[in-house]
Amino acid sequence: MKKYIHGYTETEANRLGVQASILASHLHYDSTFPPGSTVLEVGCGIGAQTKILAAANPDVRFTSIDIDEQSLRRAAGEMDRLGFSNVHFQWADIYNLPFSANSFDHIFCCFVLEHLSDPMTGLQSLKRILKQKGTLMVIEGDHGSFLSFPESEESRKTVQCLVELQANAGGNALIGRELSALLRKAGFGKIQVSPRQIYTDAGRPEVVEGFSKKTFIAMVEGVKEQAIRLGLISRCAWDKGIADLYEAAGEYGSFTYTFFKAIAENS
Ligand SMILES: C[S@@+](CC[C@H](N)C(=O)[O-])C[C@H]1O[C@@H](n2cnc3c(N)ncnc32)[C@H](O)[C@@H]1O
Repeated sequence: MKKYIHGYTETEANRLGVQASILASHLHYDSTFPPGSTVLEVGCGIGAQTKILAAANPDVRFTSIDIDEQSLRRAAGEMDRLGFSNVHFQWADIYNLPFSANSFDHIFCCFVLEHLSDPMTGLQSLKRILKQKGTLMVIEGDHGSFLSFPESEESRKTVQCLVELQANAGGNALIGRELSALLRKAGFGKIQVSPRQIYTDAGRPEVVEGFSKKTFIAMVEGVKEQAIRLGLISRCAWDKGIADLYEAAGEYGSFTYTFFKAIAENS
């Protein structure tokens, strides 16, 4: 990873928390593991998904890893505060995991592959430490799936700036559609990918607030200065694009975005 495109700021930490809770019913209704099993969570960040997983699977032992020390400390503090005792946090890099072969029954990885310059090597590294017949659960977005009404050249361009900047940082904001191919090439079997579409309009005010504004538009707005500085867009076009995104999150607008959740077996 050249640089984590969204950064490790307080604003981004808050965004990750809002994102995880607003999407929980869409992404996690089937994030369950057998009692007594061991699960590695890769790239746990501030623990936004960890909380949901640990609550839904109280009898599972989680090991949650990340390469950012500060996020790990924050995640561990929050889990202590909430009284969870089934998660162990550890610093580790997906490319160089400090675990022996066949260490975990299952692996969970959410919004991480999109930031890696070599997701295939990352997946192969996970496969090595996953037990035979163990499962890997991966969740990713795909910014190409975003549709809005109204939509303008400028609003499309702001989202495209994020796609380009993420690619410049070595990542891939369009990775959701590739999950099946990546898992197959990495040697996983029994691959099942399910698209999880989020749709918002004025009839769903909490989702407009939590997803359209505080997750999606907030994520796009996070690259404003970089996008303008690198000449990907003018300040004037950026401001219009963001105003148009807010209009799509307004009384007469709509937003649609698709996440992809894959489950595959180490077979
Ligand atoms: C978008 S955040 C997602 C955090 C969390 N999974 C969530 O959904 O809220 C991506 C996380 O992946 C971590 N990460 C990036 N590259 C990594 C690597 N090579 N090994 C382990 N973690 C990594 C980052 O530090 C960051 O915390």
